[in-house]
Amino acid sequence: MNTPVFIGVDVGTSGTKAIAINMKGELLASAHREYPLHSPKPNWAEQNPENWRVAALEVLTELASNVTPTTIAAIGLTGQMHGSVFLDARNQVLRPALLWCDQRTAPQCDAITEKAGGEAALVEMVANPALTGFTAPKILWLQDNEPDKFEKTKKVLLPKDYIRWVLTGEHATDMADASGTLLFDVRNRCWHTGLMSLLGIDPDLMPRAFEGPEITGTLLPDIAALTGLPPGIPVVAGGGDQAAGGVGCGIVRSGIVSSSLGTSGVVFAFAEKVTADPRGRVHTFCHAVPGKWHVMGVMLSAGGALQWFRNALCGEERAKAAASGRDSYAYITEAAESVPPGAEGLLFLPYLTGERTPHKDPYAKAAFIGLSLRHSKAHMARAVLEGVAYGMRDSLDIMREMDIPLRVSRVSGGGARSALWRQMLADTGRIEIARINVDEGPAFGAAILAGVGGGCFSSVEEACDSLIHEVDHCEVDTIRAEIYENYLQEYRAAYQSLSNNFKRMAELIP
Ligand code: XUL
Repeated sequence: MNTPVFIGVDVGTSGTKAIAINMKGELLASAHREYPLHSPKPNWAEQNPENWRVAALEVLTELASNVTPTTIAAIGLTGQMHGSVFLDARNQVLRPALLWCDQRTAPQCDAITEKAGGEAALVEMVANPALTGFTAPKILWLQDNEPDKFEKTKKVLLPKDYIRWVLTGEHATDMADASGTLLFDVRNRCWHTGLMSLLGIDPDLMPRAFEGPEITGTLLPDIAALTGLPPGIPVVAGGGDQAAGGVGCGIVRSGIVSSSLGTSGVVFAFAEKVTADPRGRVHTFCHAVPGKWHVMGVMLSAGGALQWFRNALCGEERAKAAASGRDSYAYITEAAESVPPGAEGLLFLPYLTGERTPHKDPYAKAAFIGLSLRHSKAHMARAVLEGVAYGMRDSLDIMREMDIPLRVSRVSGGGARSALWRQMLADTGRIEIARINVDEGPAFGAAILAGVGGGCFSSVEEACDSLIHEVDHCEVDTIRAEIYENYLQEYRAAYQSLSNNFKRMAELIP
């Protein structure tokens, strides 16, 4: 008899990816389609849900032709969080979706904080402060700026949940993604109707919220006919990309955290009990593991800072890479390795696109601090890597303040390929760093949730224990850790000294 297959679909920002895995976690097939991001005004970020629909149907069609369709036990969904799809009474999309990285809603965030009775009261209600990327301010933006469309809005769906509606005809979400709307009672795992009434948001606008592995509907016959998948396959709730990514790295037990170095940098910790930072510097969301939570710190430019450095200053390394076929980052990190820890007194603040954790400061900017004649490009490369590592340490320290156990951090994302960066994360963060055997990101977590919901694993924890393991470790080097500790104090002080300059300088730009 054929063994069951689980599909994970990740509706990401740059594209949609789908994978099929078996009960051993082996990758049987994978498909990917890209689509554009539109920025009709500065600080705006939008996508057309129709692009997600077409991409999702294409990747599912490709998967169906690469595995035996009758073996597919369940589908799990994940995707970019916080985005808003506004639907009318006939489920027609009313305007392009506002995305997680859209920054237009600062006035609505202020209004929400005020109506809730201040930031501390808001954090008490929904475990998080109002941030421009979250969904609630987007709904109020529509009401303030496009009232005709707001009047017609009958449902607000998150990106992957629009795809769920396409696949199953159901309006549903998972509790991790619901947490990122700012309208969810994270503690009690239900919609916060009290806050909705303070904000004048009708609770009927939001879909029903389910635990990650729960079945939310089944594949519609016409979608089955279109994709070649069998009709009636269960579609589980899944999770927002961070929660599903956490499951995909096995962050399902106390003490294990993950450090992901993608464009952004995320430190993600499992939490047995709900616990929020009263200052709202890290996010507290429901986990995709039923009845559990997670806490995460988000740096907006991590791998993105190194990418900026490469693009802006490393033309020579890019040319060498093009000629040799090697990765340009290999030349940059080799140069950084030739410089001692602390980059001989050069610091880099990595706030190229403002910062969420720990500053919640859209005006924060990047800076090299301490440049002297002695410093070369190699020093600057090392300072960029170290600056990102100090930023990740900031998240770890907030979690330590919150008494979240931190034993080992599992690295993922493109930056995790650098042995130098992994060792820096260990030495600056004072935490053991491990690599794991899989690297499929949130789609893998969504497929695991499908496996649990499809009845093939008894729990998310059991599935993760059997499919995910650590493959190598970096221990903390105490001598380097001491050197970094001194620089870390200067790094933190440098932002405090400069933050007002950053804000004033933003006003100088026409
Ligand atoms: C999480 C967040 C991003 C988006 C896009 O809070 O904003 O992870 O989900 O990936």
